Amino acid sequence: MTTASSAQSVRRDLANAPLLAAALGQDPARTPVWFMRQAGRSLPEYRKLREGTPMLQACFTPDMVVEVTMQPIRRHGVDAAIFFSDIVVPLKAAGIDLDIVPGTGPVVASPVRDEQAVTALPELDPANLDPIAEAVGVLVGELGDVPLIGFAGAPFTLASYLIEGGPSRHHERTKALMKAEPDVWHALLGRIADYTLEFLKVQLHAGVDAIQLFDSWAGALSERDYREFVLPHSQRVLAGLAFAGVPRIHFGVGTAELLPAMREAGADVVGVDWRLPLDEAVRRLQAAAPDAPKPVVQGNLDPAVLFAGWDVVEREVRRIVTEGKAAAGHIFNLGHGVMPDTDPTVLTRVVELVHSIR
Ligand code: CP3
Repeated sequence: MTTASSAQSVRRDLANAPLLAAALGQDPARTPVWFMRQAGRSLPEYRKLREGTPMLQACFTPDMVVEVTMQPIRRHGVDAAIFFSDIVVPLKAAGIDLDIVPGTGPVVASPVRDEQAVTALPELDPANLDPIAEAVGVLVGELGDVPLIGFAGAPFTLASYLIEGGPSRHHERTKALMKAEPDVWHALLGRIADYTLEFLKVQLHAGVDAIQLFDSWAGALSERDYREFVLPHSQRVLAGLAFAGVPRIHFGVGTAELLPAMREAGADVVGVDWRLPLDEAVRRLQAAAPDAPKPVVQGNLDPAVLFAGWDVVEREVRRIVTEGKAAAGHIFNLGHGVMPDTDPTVLTRVVELVHSIR
């Protein structure tokens, strides 16, 4: 799994871990399963630990990062841990004035909307990410043979928060800057790609076993705009991680029309939301690149289905595992993050069920 790199000394040899075997298109002993947002508000033990600590403060406190990352491993028996952090952590580490507001999400004090603001964006001193490296280092020691997934936000999704100043339904200011001032846009995405790369490199050097690049809101774009304004920047990020030789997962919501382009960005594993059946996702990926190896996919249970009662959940899980057989490898996941009101005992049963199906 590992290739020559300075990260080699810290990375565990987990070649037989189901998650990593599936990511390589091999036939693992069982279908691996983890959940986006598995660490978080669906868990009472998380809510208790976080009481009184703001989200961003938690992200820069290694003890807390370690404990929250471990909670879903102990409770659910998932096949991977995802490092507890947030996509805006590298922006915060660079000195950008922002906060994560409960119930809202990231809020940026001075939105970045013109050339001057882009030029003024600070450089990220990697030393500001030391608490992240420390937490990853402790985690790879504690996790035994469970892989640790590192992650970052992709340039487009981070740009949307920086330009809109917070969460956005239509991304109108983002698209306006992109279309009206392409030079400013590309300068901004280039700077964000630097932050993203730095954040991921710190995690890789500290020993993470795979990475996921979240381009959560890329589905707002046409394929044409994605290819012109986004793909080159995501490509630079993913190419910049090749040295580590670990699987790169690339995910966004509502990206049925973008999946082949997102794979071209350099994804070893393509994340799929619930709108497109996995076998259809595989068909589209193969049709777009007939000479490429058969794709590996991750997904795609609708997180809302977890509220529908066990009979419905079981039927949908079985369907998805069957449809996933069309891929060279399938990592079972939700089609987006766990919602805060989800009953965590249902998640545990999903893990048991996925593991029981051959
Ligand atoms: O998946 C995991 O378990 C790891 C932790 C993780 C968090 N954020 C913790 C978090 C990950 C992978 C993220 C990524 C993230 N953050 C994304 C990409 C994934 C996706 O969902 O599409 C995005 C878009 C963000 C931005 C963000 N941060 C949002 C939309 C929110 C929720 C705001 C809210 O209160 O509803 C956050 C805050 C956040 N990040 C929380 C957690 C557990 C909730 C804050 C809290 O617990 O107080």
